[in-house]
Amino acid sequence: MKMRLKDFELEVYFDKYEFTAPYLLSQSDCQSMAIGELLALEPGAQENLMKTWLGYSEVRGNPGLRQEIAGLYDRLTAENILVHAGAQEPIFNFMNVALSPGDHVVCMVPTYQSLFEVAGAIGCQVARWELAQGESGWLLDLDALGKLITPKTRAIVLNSPNNPTGYTLSREEMQAVTAIARRHGLYVFSDEVYKDLELDGQQRPWFADMYENAVSLGVMSKAYGLAGLRIGWIATPNRQLYEKMARFKHYTTICSSSPSEYLALVALRNRDKILSRNRAIIRENLDLAEAFFARHPHFFLNNRPMGGPIAFHQLKIKEPVADFCEALVARKGVLLLPSTVYSFPGPYIRMGYGRKNFPACLEKLEEYLREDYRP
Ligand SMILES: Cc1ncc(COP(=O)(O)O)c(C=O)c1O
Repeated sequence: MKMRLKDFELEVYFDKYEFTAPYLLSQSDCQSMAIGELLALEPGAQENLMKTWLGYSEVRGNPGLRQEIAGLYDRLTAENILVHAGAQEPIFNFMNVALSPGDHVVCMVPTYQSLFEVAGAIGCQVARWELAQGESGWLLDLDALGKLITPKTRAIVLNSPNNPTGYTLSREEMQAVTAIARRHGLYVFSDEVYKDLELDGQQRPWFADMYENAVSLGVMSKAYGLAGLRIGWIATPNRQLYEKMARFKHYTTICSSSPSEYLALVALRNRDKILSRNRAIIRENLDLAEAFFARHPHFFLNNRPMGGPIAFHQLKIKEPVADFCEALVARKGVLLLPSTVYSFPGPYIRMGYGRKNFPACLEKLEEYLREDYRP
């Protein structure tokens, strides 16, 4: 059966504006850097990059890189780590390996479209486990998850910290999901690409450290700001599933780019420096936004994120949110993402906090509200 993937609404929107709009106020990756800046973090790294062999590398990933990634987990080793091209590839590969037409999947929403779209295109029925708007933030109902499970359910798909709300499951919520999944014999596919950007000071484990049938998704694109490397990975204790995903990868990218694998290794060895820089940028930007929202209580409900570099703010205007965003980018060059690209009801905009030029972008938005906006 031919897979029928619908347009990836968010990526189509970005494709239109990301490299033309001067004020990107919606990005989900943290501040990036040039190759030279990354190499300067480690003596000898520049020479080693020059010596990197440009032949094929291992399908499962460079052994040193897998070892370094495995160090992020409490209970896993390099044998449990499968390197991929970014995070998009393993979402596609997992769904193709683990699911069949007619299966049922529960997916936390709103979220990044491929997490439910690929399952739908395979012929699965997808049940939406919806985050709800609370008085000042997002809410997740664990009882609702239990009720969505059917005898045909194969997997629960999570994304925490969540894109776009920043909702981050607590350790207790992760345990509750594990208990449900174990009781029904389900996979948990946990997209944790924003991990290490939790903002509430609570440490959570990776899902793959908690549950024998979990797959944790990690990547260099977000917390590390190194999307151009296109290096991501899955971690899973489930050997059978791991093996099937490795074999499926023979048909997608085979192996990653060896210079990227080396650069990812350097970044991971210097993770504390990179992550603390990026967390500081997010915190400063969120404080600025806090003051901005306090100045505009009739326009926005803040919804401060629990984790990650993005938040989903409610817009309290009558105009359709997509029109608001289109007019803003056309008149001021400020790019926001409207909730329509998430197929999520209600007027929300996604804002991104990981970039150094956030203050200038926010100022442009405020200028628009003050001077140009006519409700
Ligand atoms: C939740 C989530 N998963 C996966 C991805 C894909 O990541 P990558 O661009 O590294 O493939 C993204 C990118 O925005 C994302 O937000």
